[in-house]
Amino acid sequence: MSRVCVVGAGYVGLPTAACLAHLGHDVICADLDEAKITKLQQGHVEVLEGGLPELVSAGLASGRLEFVVGASEAVTAAEFVVLCVATPEGPNGGADLSAVEAVTREIAPLLRADAVVVTKSTMPVGSAAGVARILQASGAPSTVAVASNPEFLREGTAVQEFLGPHRIVIGADDETVAGRVATLYEGVNAPVVTTSLSSAEMIKYAANAFLATKISFVNELANACEALGADIEEVIRGLELDARIGFGGLAPGPGWGGSCFPKDTAALLHATSAAGYAFELLRTTVAVNTRQRTRVVDKIRDACGGSLDSVKVALWGLTFKANTDDTRFSPAVDIARLLVQEGAVVRAFDPAAGGAAQQELGDLVEIAADAIDAAREADVLVVVTEWDEFRNVDLARVASVMATPRVIDARNVIDLKSAREAGFEYHGIGRL
Ligand code: UGA
Repeated sequence: MSRVCVVGAGYVGLPTAACLAHLGHDVICADLDEAKITKLQQGHVEVLEGGLPELVSAGLASGRLEFVVGASEAVTAAEFVVLCVATPEGPNGGADLSAVEAVTREIAPLLRADAVVVTKSTMPVGSAAGVARILQASGAPSTVAVASNPEFLREGTAVQEFLGPHRIVIGADDETVAGRVATLYEGVNAPVVTTSLSSAEMIKYAANAFLATKISFVNELANACEALGADIEEVIRGLELDARIGFGGLAPGPGWGGSCFPKDTAALLHATSAAGYAFELLRTTVAVNTRQRTRVVDKIRDACGGSLDSVKVALWGLTFKANTDDTRFSPAVDIARLLVQEGAVVRAFDPAAGGAAQQELGDLVEIAADAIDAAREADVLVVVTEWDEFRNVDLARVASVMATPRVIDARNVIDLKSAREAGFEYHGIGRL
């Protein structure tokens, strides 16, 4: 078992640290956010991530997981330093690597001679080689190695996916280094794909670009179903059994959001364009995604007779998907803003995102205490996030508190028959 330092205790770093400790490694997880580290030292996990609080508590209790402020102290004994710091979208669409570069400079002179610096944050092709250059220029022992080990974790199910991944990708320019990184995952049953540094970085972007394209495709298909009179849910059932198409990632909706697809598609477009290549399919994937938000707003406006002025909208869901408390780049937040711009009065409810949403939206929308409260007196109900609570709601009760029982189901989660029985005028995405 190895001594590992994980730098960054965010959506990727924290599950990584907790899972590596669970696999038996001695892990120190470092972050600059003192308040977060203090809470983690007490076993308090602030993000909504299934199974994570339990793993953090178990790691702390076993002594295999420790939290510290700042990377310097944490890296000195580490055989592996796993970089999980944020790489947000910069002003021009490219990835902002300043946090990675700063940490690399800080830790360089403190590293063990046999240390491997593993980049897990999503970084443009060539960045890991850049980390190696910064390490050498900043006083790291010349024997320190660099590997790229991208993560494919979805928020909300990160622990499950870390311990049961589809594959483990390890990029290194030296087979021995790749082999050493693979030992971190002993006990995890998954194929290991070993590549060059740059291919590993590209695999991460390719995966997110493909998944985003798959969703944009299904959203386009849903819109085509509306135009031609077919039902997207039936069409999907007939598509996904073809192994070349596959199950999953084919749910139509208000378009993809979150902290990954938007920034990663932008970064790949930026990098390819800077390299002289126009990635037209990906450009269209992004454009379709933006249009999908406005199509939902168009549906709401049409259902309300052509104007949203003073229309009371109940908005169910604010997170970018269910089972997370994250509202970053959420289609729900974009749709709320567009509705308010057109004069609608929006009352929103989300089972997990109250505080975060209030921060994002300020006074633009009112946050209701629960789903029924949001629907009270509303002219239209809009379901934007696919929480089970909305799927299983008592529709007759919802209809009874609304001014007009009318629903725009932007996630196709409401049972059509029950909606109609409850007296709802129903509009889904691509549903007959
Ligand atoms: C995504 C990828 O799925 C992970 O593999 C990757 O590791 C991660 O980004 C990352 O780069 O760190 P995540 O952003 O957590 O994970 O969320 P997803 O579950 O993939 O959903 C992304 C967006 O697409 C959400 O807005 C979701 O509602 C939407 N979506 C997803 C659909 O509209 N339809 C679908 O069928 C699937």
